[in-house]
Amino acid sequence: MKVNTLTGLLDKMWTDYVEINPLAQKVYDLLTNDGEHILNDHIALRTFNHSRVSIDVLAKPFLESGYKYMGDYHFTEKKLYAKHFEHADEKMPKIFISELLLEKFSPELNKLINRMINEIPSGKELEFDFISAGRPWSVSIKDYQDLMKESDYAAWVSAFGYRPNHFTVFINALKKFSDIQNLNEHLKGHGFKLNSSGGEIKGSKEVCLEQSSTLANNIEVSFSDGKLTIPACYYEFAKRYPMQNGKLYQGFVAASADKIFESTNQGQ
Ligand code: NI
Repeated sequence: MKVNTLTGLLDKMWTDYVEINPLAQKVYDLLTNDGEHILNDHIALRTFNHSRVSIDVLAKPFLESGYKYMGDYHFTEKKLYAKHFEHADEKMPKIFISELLLEKFSPELNKLINRMINEIPSGKELEFDFISAGRPWSVSIKDYQDLMKESDYAAWVSAFGYRPNHFTVFINALKKFSDIQNLNEHLKGHGFKLNSSGGEIKGSKEVCLEQSSTLANNIEVSFSDGKLTIPACYYEFAKRYPMQNGKLYQGFVAASADKIFESTNQGQ
């Protein structure tokens, strides 16, 4: 079903996200059954820096709906660039869009990604809900595995296409679990595995942002030549602290996000 409103788009993204990521629904249920009301801090989206599907193309429906560009981030090692967008209504989730810097990868990877992007029907990327369109190209298990040799991120996008990589619980709005350490212990006590790359808690009060995340759950994905069980999406948790001016920090910390990206890596 096509949607053309911001609320419709956010609802569609959430529905799709919990459908392929039952683990997020379980975390959501665990917290809401405890009486918590969950506010979403941000939604993360992934793409390539190709002119048809770059950050600026994907950001259009959000910019048309009252979002503004607020900051950008460089991830040298992972060869990624990202921008974040905020809505005037602080209850609306921030939007974090990253793109893989294709020129920094092999001709083989570029050939494969270009072949995929060329399969997107002309103009489809300009539709309001393209960001929730899922995978708009065909991809084989071998393609996925070849991409994986160079970039976990490229392989993830090839398999899942356009849909949220993660939603994020805004810890500050929780009543019982407003401390990230307590929240992490609570989640682990209920059997959820957290991403421990760089420590379970990324960031600190000093950088005004603490984050943790579950490891992505594995799901079976259909490729053009068969099925493969691979990491899908994860759920993130963010606690924000006030800056010197007393306002809550709304940005992102590149060093932390760098480790959070690894929540979808295989074999953690
Ligand atoms: Ni995030």
